[in-house]
Amino acid sequence: MQQHGCILWFTGLSGAGKSTLSEAVARELRAQGVAVEVLDGDEVRENLSKGLSFSKEDRDTNVRRIAFVANLLAKHGVIAITAAISPYRAIRAEARAKSQAPFIEVFVDAPLAVVEARDVKGLYKKARAGEIPVFTGISDPYEAPLAPEVTVKTGEESIAQSTSKVLEHLRHAGLLGSA
Ligand code: ADX
Repeated sequence: MQQHGCILWFTGLSGAGKSTLSEAVARELRAQGVAVEVLDGDEVRENLSKGLSFSKEDRDTNVRRIAFVANLLAKHGVIAITAAISPYRAIRAEARAKSQAPFIEVFVDAPLAVVEARDVKGLYKKARAGEIPVFTGISDPYEAPLAPEVTVKTGEESIAQSTSKVLEHLRHAGLLGSA
């Protein structure tokens, strides 16, 4: 089976479901025999970007590193899935411009009210209390994509529905071969 690489770039607030969704998409693709790699924000910060802060400069560095690795994978036929907040439009645009494979931006669109109510990691509470000074969505910007290829509404859709939307886009874009 001929496989075309691409970058599936998930962006959205902390707790919006980027990791969960990227893993679900990866699982489906692997089951179809597709080569996939996930660059998850939390894991990248433990390894490739260890020591970086959440200042704008360090976030940009983090996102540039993710884009660099994703591009290496994608140009060799892998579907590279990234799942970092990547809050700044300009750096996402840079990642797109530098990509040598198709770049598919997936906006994981969950309202702040929803992610804050869930508060899976307890970080929104800390941010509101001022214990985390520059938290995305609370005291630091999140610039939503203006023209994402796919938007998933994780506050309203099931993971299965959101996963299907992403896979459907890949199929329509001709990125899944013919298997
Ligand atoms: S990014 O802005 O550089 O793209 P990244 O996705 O790597 O962010 O990391 C975000 C994760 O780090 C969040 O899901 C959260 O668990 C944690 N985190 C810790 N401090 C912050 C902060 N100040 N703002 C956002 N996320 C934070």
